[in-house]
Amino acid sequence: MEVLVDTSGKMGPVEKTITVRSNDPVQPELVLTLKVRVKSIAHGDTSVESSSIFQGECRRCHVNAGSGLSGRRLFEADCAMCHRTKDEDYSPGSPVEVLRLIPVEVLEQGIRNGVSGTSMPGFAKSEGGPLDESQVRSLVDYLSGPR
Ligand code: HEC
Ligand code: HEC
Repeated sequence: MEVLVDTSGKMGPVEKTITVRSNDPVQPELVLTLKVRVKSIAHGDTSVESSSIFQGECRRCHVNAGSGLSGRRLFEADCAMCHRTKDEDYSPGSPVEVLRLIPVEVLEQGIRNGVSGTSMPGFAKSEGGPLDESQVRSLVDYLSGPR
């Protein structure tokens, strides 16, 4: 029997059941359970914590990519991987279209300090992040400004 699982928009453990119906007089219906674990293309099997996102080898994608950039280019380098567009299947944080609707003070607070209980770390240098004040401002301006 061939089974195909559509993993688009999924991450981590996913469980699916398959009901097999036959003319077997003893057990005409059999439920099979399929357990799969959808891996991140970026992290493979490693489980990642946002507390270490700015350290060691994690810096390659989460810090170095945006080094020296500001505004749109900084967003694309450091943020877009977790704030994808509405059309994309998996976005750990709100899609960028939703971020654009958020009041300036909330944007600033989120970027500077992070959002506790989520994978959004504080990006300001004062919070152990990689961004200086002008970079934080440039992101707020980019997200609250015209498209
Ligand atoms: C090759 C580039 C790359 C490296 C290296 C990398 N990341 Fe990521 N990270 C990504 C991308 C891309 C995403 C967006 C989600 C996805 O596609 O898996 C992401 C998302 C995340 C998330 C959010 C995941 C979620 O689903 O909420 C965390 C937390 C994270 N990374 C932490 C880390 C840590 C910690 C390290 C170092 C051990 C690390 N990353 C190394 C590219 C990378
Ligand atoms: C590792 C994944 C990850 C990265 C990288 C990331 N974010 Fe987030 N972000 C999240 C998650 C998860 C949340 C909490 C859910 C939500 O509100 O979107 C969040 C929340 C936020 C919020 C608060 C939204 C609210 O409704 O309160 C803002 C603003 C924000 N992110 C902007 C950014 C910007 C700008 C960057 C780049 C500097 C960035 N994020 C990088 C995952 C990430």
